[in-house]
Amino acid sequence: MAEVFKAAKVTKNVWWVGAIDWNMRNFHGYATDRGTTYNAYLVIADKVTLVDTVKAAFKDEMLARIRSVIGDCTKIDYIISNHSEMDHTGCLMDTIAAVKPEKVFASLMGVKGLSAHFHTDYPFSAVENGGELELGGARFSFLETRMLHWPDSMVAYLPAHKLLFSQDGFGMHLSSSERFADELNEAVLEQEAARYYANILLPYSALVGNLLAKIADLGIEIDILAPDHGPIWRREIETILNLYSKWAVQKPARKAVIVYDTMWHSTEKMALAIGEGLAEGGISVRMLSLGTARRSDVITEMLDAGALLVGSPTLNNQMFPTVADILCYMKGLKPKNLVGAAFGSYGWSGEGARQVADILQSMGVDLVGEPLAVQYVPDGRALAECRALGLEIASRLDKICS
Ligand code: FEO
Repeated sequence: MAEVFKAAKVTKNVWWVGAIDWNMRNFHGYATDRGTTYNAYLVIADKVTLVDTVKAAFKDEMLARIRSVIGDCTKIDYIISNHSEMDHTGCLMDTIAAVKPEKVFASLMGVKGLSAHFHTDYPFSAVENGGELELGGARFSFLETRMLHWPDSMVAYLPAHKLLFSQDGFGMHLSSSERFADELNEAVLEQEAARYYANILLPYSALVGNLLAKIADLGIEIDILAPDHGPIWRREIETILNLYSKWAVQKPARKAVIVYDTMWHSTEKMALAIGEGLAEGGISVRMLSLGTARRSDVITEMLDAGALLVGSPTLNNQMFPTVADILCYMKGLKPKNLVGAAFGSYGWSGEGARQVADILQSMGVDLVGEPLAVQYVPDGRALAECRALGLEIASRLDKICS
């Protein structure tokens, strides 16, 4: 019977055999408006190697695509698991049971991670950092990329094709029938790559910089960059490498993100007045109300910003719960090189803005002045203060960026 799902040829003897998750909209809290793909690859030499697998629910799709190339999945001799997170290993044990490979390789930490995930004593084989394996005529080399973004992460390189299986790195959550980046809209690629970097890789930016330097030092030439999410890069690979170089240093730009929530529009009025001041000072402003903006929208806008201003009303002696939520998310993603301020309106106690300022300070944000708190509804004078705060931050940011 003909297979509905077909493999896509990446290059000679290398096939994409992954799955397309068209309707995935929430990746552990990260809003994925364009769905995603889980990429797995088949490398065919004298023997057959499967590089990574897919999320559990997509096993049959992956196996069907594999069959479309080799007819019978039991022809797979080896599996390489570059990372144990379950979007790439959810069907690994079932695949092992179906395929019965000679060996399944992972990094040293990957062996521990897989054993712990699946409560199994299956004899996974550890590959050395920097090591090489000749798998039935296909030579692979491996580089650990610990904490990019899990302790077990590694990448696999096929020197014969100058092809890097980069795992989560250089990926994006973007479902499409096209398999290659050069078949897709450039603006969409940059938008989704940025969104992915901001929500997944940002805390590990120093390691991203180290990895890029290591790739250059080792003279690793890349003609094909095959990540585990989104399109494969086979042309103008420097486009994505250059974006990663830029994002990794988190260089501040003349852009401010104002994120706030509001109860009776008073904190919102303050936000708008601050934004006017920033814009007058030559800063590009992104105004994000937590009534509509999602966590992943906020952090994506922060990726190339130089200022962060957070506004919260006070509710029952606390900052607003949505503001606590976004600050928790932001803090974990460790944005750097930001100037900023806290602000907000209150009724009778007014702890909200101070609590926000304390968290911003703990994140390393260079705060301009004391938190700006206004009782009840801001009057003209209070709004002028807000506008002045915006101008002051604009001036600070302008000096930083000059
Ligand atoms: Fe795509 Fe970290 O898994």
